[in-house]
Amino acid sequence: MKREYPETPAAWREFAVAQNEDELRIGGWLVMHTWERALMAALAEAVTRGSGDVLEVGFGMGISASAIVARGCRSYTCIEAHPVVAAQARAWGAQQTVPVTVLEGFWEEQVQGLGAQYDGVLFDTYPLTPAERNRNHFPFIPVATRLLRPGGVFTCYSDETVDFRAEHLHLLLQHFRRVELLRVEGLAPPPDPVGWSADHMVIPIASEPVRPAGG
Ligand SMILES: C[S@@+](CC[C@H](N)C(=O)[O-])C[C@H]1O[C@@H](n2cnc3c(N)ncnc32)[C@H](O)[C@@H]1O
Repeated sequence: MKREYPETPAAWREFAVAQNEDELRIGGWLVMHTWERALMAALAEAVTRGSGDVLEVGFGMGISASAIVARGCRSYTCIEAHPVVAAQARAWGAQQTVPVTVLEGFWEEQVQGLGAQYDGVLFDTYPLTPAERNRNHFPFIPVATRLLRPGGVFTCYSDETVDFRAEHLHLLLQHFRRVELLRVEGLAPPPDPVGWSADHMVIPIASEPVRPAGG
């Protein structure tokens, strides 16, 4: 299937969804695959350190969501742009024993009404333009600081190997005083010309937000 970026972000919401037990494709893009399970477990572990209220951006196949609930949280909230995936998130949420909230739409809009109400924030969306590839999480990093309670933790699908990009680390340390880097090993991604190919990924676990002066 030919893959094209959406003409506008809103057009992502119209793209066809194809899913089986191994993968999720949206508009032909391989958005999520079960090879990421170990990675999702590591991200889930980070955001459930406080067993508190967790926000996840991007529901996908719900692999990290299930890992978050299995590890223990007070509540789970996700922001999901695609209506079909958001409907799956709501169906999944109805089966959970903790309160689940699904905010349907793009994070850029949905975060407007949110405050410092989460103990863990996990960001894992998908690039919707060529310019966002490998850096779709960068604009969210400053936003994460204002969504976290004191003691809260932010993590994300990082697109980083052991050659962690200096600009990425710089951005994290501009907004968080503490950044732990965790190497997740044993990954076996399937061939995908624009996807991940390394056998490991280094994920950041950031805490202690740097508040703006007077903020
Ligand atoms: C890689 S998947 C998330 C995988 C998930 N962590 C899991 O374990 O299955 C990315 C999801 O982010 C959604 N998404 C992409 N851009 C978004 C945005 N700007 N705001 C909210 N959701 C977005 C996609 O529709 C997709 O469902």
